[in-house]
Amino acid sequence: MSDANPNDPLQDSPAHGGRRRFCKAVIGGTAAASAATTSYPIVAFLRLPKALGPVELLEVSVEDLVDGEGYWGEHRGKQIVVIKQGDEIRAFDGECSHLGCIVRWDSADQVFKCPCHGAKFDALGNPIAGPANAPLRRVTFVVEEGVLKVTDISGST
Ligand code: FES
Repeated sequence: MSDANPNDPLQDSPAHGGRRRFCKAVIGGTAAASAATTSYPIVAFLRLPKALGPVELLEVSVEDLVDGEGYWGEHRGKQIVVIKQGDEIRAFDGECSHLGCIVRWDSADQVFKCPCHGAKFDALGNPIAGPANAPLRRVTFVVEEGVLKVTDISGST
């Protein structure tokens, strides 16, 4: 004799299987949508804004620099950011002076922001908020025939 009770809502039966599958699908879909909604801004924030490509020695055409934007490239294994403001061009080591996370250039606010502990640096690399109390390291470069070439990443602060 079977213990099956067709009126028991907790019992697995063909009549309840469809509802159970539906609930699992709704819960699974909701969980997937929540995960995507939560993770997208984090991934977008951590992604470097604009990459010039993994070049060994950073060279960029000055014509390609857009006023107020940050351009990223790699120079001997270091992340370098080049910014242009009007006629001024500056290059920095992308490592935050606090604990070395890679900062981001926020072109809307014209400041560097560190995603790790919230440090902010002005367009000259000077700390303006957060735990960092030393400036970003400047990177030296030359411009020859319209091409910016990083020459020294040892940096001055
Ligand atoms: S590493 Fe940038 S604020 Fe800490």
